[in-house]
Amino acid sequence: MKNIVIVGATSAIAIACAREWATKGARFFLVARNQERMEQVAADLNARGAASATVHRLDIDRLDDHAAMLADCAAQMDSIDIVLVASGTLPDQAVCQNDPAVAVREFHTNALSLIALLTPIANRLEAQRHGTLAVISSVAGDRGRPSNYLYGSTKAALQAFLEGLRARLFKVGVHVKLFSS
Ligand SMILES: NC(=O)c1ccc[n+]([C@@H]2O[C@H](COP(=O)([O-])OP(=O)(O)OC[C@H]3O[C@@H](n4cnc5c(N)ncnc54)[C@H](OP(=O)(O)O)[C@@H]3O)[C@@H](O)[C@H]2O)c1
Repeated sequence: MKNIVIVGATSAIAIACAREWATKGARFFLVARNQERMEQVAADLNARGAASATVHRLDIDRLDDHAAMLADCAAQMDSIDIVLVASGTLPDQAVCQNDPAVAVREFHTNALSLIALLTPIANRLEAQRHGTLAVISSVAGDRGRPSNYLYGSTKAALQAFLEGLRARLFKVGVHVKLFSS
């Protein structure tokens, strides 16, 4: 039975993955902001065969709340097999290029908050010496394009961070995987 943490658990992509894992009896710790939607996802996963599905409400932009979520996760799961990170927003490029505050806020949600959250998660996986960290990125991070370069820059930052993390954690048997579409 696998212990699986999903950040951005109400993401359409994450739900599709979780449904596959639920049929194999996985245990879930689900994280996002929308409590009601998460509870619907948890009920759906339980109906499909999950061993259990716990939800934890977190706005990842609130860095001070990360520790409580991680403590709750540790209390629920003594070991983690998979962490899937699917949280993110699709910023409006036209708004971002005219409002620096929005551009910075979107960069915070899609890059800085995740770097803050992935740092202790990576250390936990490193300490247990096994597990997979899977993060959904985007081809938008491969190069800057006029139509979405704010979004692309968040993914590029995250990709560079994760490439380094992958090389570090590989040595202790932890796998870091980046998915783009
Ligand atoms: N869909 C695509 O075609 C596509 C293509 C390439 C890459 N991607 C990437 O794949 C990932 C998932 O995409 P998707 O289309 O499945 O996304 P989605 O359906 O819009 O879901 C986004 C998820 O992020 C969570 N989230 C957003 N802001 C958050 C915050 N401040 N704190 C905590 N959770 C937050 C949302 O939950 P709450 O709203 O409940 O917080 C939700 O669970 C994203 O990183 C996206 O950039 C998607």
